Amino acid sequence: MEMTGNIVILTGAGCSAESGIDTFRDGGGLWEQHRVEDVATPEAYERDPALVQRFYDMRRAAIQTKAPNAAHHALARLEREWDGGTVTLVTQNVDDLHDRAGSKNLIHMHGEHLSAWCTACDTRMGWTATLIEGPPCPSCGAAALRPDIVWFGEMPYRMEEIHDALRDCDIFVSIGTSGAVYPAAGFVRLAREMGAHCLELNLERSQGSAWFHETRLGPAGDIVPAWVEELVGPD
Ligand code: OAD
Repeated sequence: MEMTGNIVILTGAGCSAESGIDTFRDGGGLWEQHRVEDVATPEAYERDPALVQRFYDMRRAAIQTKAPNAAHHALARLEREWDGGTVTLVTQNVDDLHDRAGSKNLIHMHGEHLSAWCTACDTRMGWTATLIEGPPCPSCGAAALRPDIVWFGEMPYRMEEIHDALRDCDIFVSIGTSGAVYPAAGFVRLAREMGAHCLELNLERSQGSAWFHETRLGPAGDIVPAWVEELVGPD
């Protein structure tokens, strides 16, 4: 594989699985326990805001008890030590484990659990507590705070920046994502069209596996640090 150039990394729930955070589509995953239409759409929130707030309140509390794993730490190290170009980390994950591991050039395309969005004044703010009781927005006072999470039917964040990075990348790596949800699932095709080497690191082949030049299977906590060592040497 090319050992220089710009790297774009896309992560999904599998990257946080070994930190004890449920994935969505594996056996027993979140979407087996809850219906997407009940908790992860704007319509669900309109219909039953308390149900949706409770779901996200529980997950916001839960992630604060978890810690980054070896995969998160290895990706932060790659960003610090790679001198062949830029490292851009795009995550579909709404936990803060990449942030806590030290990744800086990081795009949370599906939003963040530890952020609240005021639908009255359009302010976003760090938020670690619950929202179900309808606390006033610190900016405008309205009781209009919702989870700052991109729900199905809503536009993911920072797509222009992501596309720019993909167009300019030499190495594209997808880690711990099933390739079931667009637009993220389509990133590999764009990167490949632009001539990037495309590598998949996952427990099992993803839905878009055929688009990758190379697939390595195993738990992220093992195979991500091993790949990073190939690029920047042993820790
Ligand atoms: P999924 O649950 O769809 O897929 C997780 C992937 O991680 C699967 O391919 C697993 O095989 C793999 N996996 C599980 N454990 C792993 C491990 N220890 N090491 C490596 N891989 C492992 O999760 P995502 O692809 O992230 O969106 O889901 C994409 C989006 O769908 C999420 O961001 C979320 C969800 O609905 C929104 O909420 C908007």
